Amino acid sequence: MCGITGYIGKNNNAIKIVMHGLEALEYRGYDSSGIAYTNDNKVNITKEKGKINNLKKSVDFNIKSNLAIGHTRWATHGEPNKVNSHPHSVNKFTIVHNGIIENYIELKEELLNNNYVFKSSTDTEIACAYIDFIYKKEKDILKTLNQVTKIFRGSYALGIICNDDLDNLYAVRKTSPLIIAQGKDENYIASDVPAILKCTNKYILLDDFQIAKINSDNIEIYNQKLELVTKETLEFDGTYESSIKNGFEHFMLKEIHEEPSVFRNTVNTYLNKNFKNIPNFSKYNNLHIVACGSAYHTGLVGKYLIEKYANIPVYVEVASEYRYKHNFYDKQTLVIFVSQSGETADTLACLKKVKEDGIDTLGIVNVVGSSVARESKYVMYTKAGCEIAVATTKAYLAQLTVFSIITMYLINDKSLSNEISSIPTLIDNLINKDYKSIAKEIYKDKNIFFIGRGIDYFLSMEGSLKLKEISYINSVAYQAGELKHGTISLIEKNTPVIAISTDNTLTEKTISNIKEVKARGAKIIFVTNQNIIDNFYDIKIDIPKVSELLQPILTIVPLQLIAYEVAKLNKCDIDKPRNLAKSVTVE
Ligand code: F6R
Repeated sequence: MCGITGYIGKNNNAIKIVMHGLEALEYRGYDSSGIAYTNDNKVNITKEKGKINNLKKSVDFNIKSNLAIGHTRWATHGEPNKVNSHPHSVNKFTIVHNGIIENYIELKEELLNNNYVFKSSTDTEIACAYIDFIYKKEKDILKTLNQVTKIFRGSYALGIICNDDLDNLYAVRKTSPLIIAQGKDENYIASDVPAILKCTNKYILLDDFQIAKINSDNIEIYNQKLELVTKETLEFDGTYESSIKNGFEHFMLKEIHEEPSVFRNTVNTYLNKNFKNIPNFSKYNNLHIVACGSAYHTGLVGKYLIEKYANIPVYVEVASEYRYKHNFYDKQTLVIFVSQSGETADTLACLKKVKEDGIDTLGIVNVVGSSVARESKYVMYTKAGCEIAVATTKAYLAQLTVFSIITMYLINDKSLSNEISSIPTLIDNLINKDYKSIAKEIYKDKNIFFIGRGIDYFLSMEGSLKLKEISYINSVAYQAGELKHGTISLIEKNTPVIAISTDNTLTEKTISNIKEVKARGAKIIFVTNQNIIDNFYDIKIDIPKVSELLQPILTIVPLQLIAYEVAKLNKCDIDKPRNLAKSVTVE
């Protein structure tokens, strides 16, 4: 997700402060960064693809400057490269931008007719040119910015430098957040509090359509009538760490709490809208799904739903196996690659091979502009936002959501809209249950089993992976009916077994299997959407019953939170479990 930081002050160290601000925003995720700074009454721009370290190498920190704006870019319009990264500059204006200008194509047309030329594929360069275009008529910066707020559609937070007024830094916003922070003999703009915390904790929240004109001593805020308004100064009471975790103890917990909005964003992107750059699924007579880890687990759920409801055969394989085996695909096959990072080496290698064979490919990807997104013929983005905790939660849930959407699309089912709108609240209710007391019952155990049948088995696999990766407790998922063929020998008195049953056609069978392990002393945690009161379980976690197409999205939430609470009681490094990396770019 993009980040903005800007500085104007008497201390002449604009470059250092803005670079610092950018580093503080790194946690949001980005794929390029850039800075514009004034020196000798000229605006200079340096931008680099990749990590801020690349930018640091290109910037001369000895240059004295009293005005700078910086940006970390998370690609949306155009791939992550130097040209597309911000700041963008057109004639007298240089800007950084968070958000999306939705009517940029229309604006571009008008600008092309007025002899503007463009270097990048971004909506931001169009916005910058449009500001310049209006300024040529208005010859007044405030009037110009006020006018563009009436023309730009979508969301934006803009930091703006104009060559005609290098004594001031300007900012304006709609929907995307922007703060104006106050220092001594210097002031700042930023998209988030963490960017300014090293310098000050005092800030003003800019409202939609308000314009800020800032210099070293003054902050002026104007409303849409271009009248000066008085704003309350707020004080952030907390540390940098707490500011980026938004009050949550761990990123993993924060990300689980974001799941209701992740579901909403993902659904809103694809349902009731024209699908763009996605395949005509009905043209294929079989699908392959290739992925690693949790993404593979969503593929298994996807297979279950698509086969059951759309009656299309689906083959699922982990990428490291798919890559080296003989695969049966042809022109009627669509191969789907699922990846949060879009950079997983095994997944990417399979994608390249399938592409070489001339087979259609679809990437279900979270990181915009990532390799899997770029290499795939079609892309469906999951709208999870930047995920920082190594163990995936919200991106996994977004992947499940995309598979539900694909299935609904395949069977042309529009009947679930009421249920879909209730899902965010149901997720929220599940998040707010007490999992700590359950975790206390199992956190000291050395082995924990997960069992389920059908779709519940695939969710068990994810529950088990989550638990073992962050708590380091050995955990295995089994098909409930398969235990008696070997694994049941591991069950002893008090061995925790987390049993999942949401498919009522299989409940009786699953209960029989639970009773088999209960008879051997297992401690049963029963996760179900059914109203069963019995003595075969020790703890019951109730989840709301919804259509099977949406059920996995609810079932997974308690499993993620049990893993979290167990790891917390064991004092594990929850966000950065040992030996694991967020993006696995080696084979
Ligand atoms: C587990 C986890 C991993 C990833 C896997 C694939 O919590 O995060 O199992 O799911 O490494 O990564 P992506 O989705 O980035 O391809």
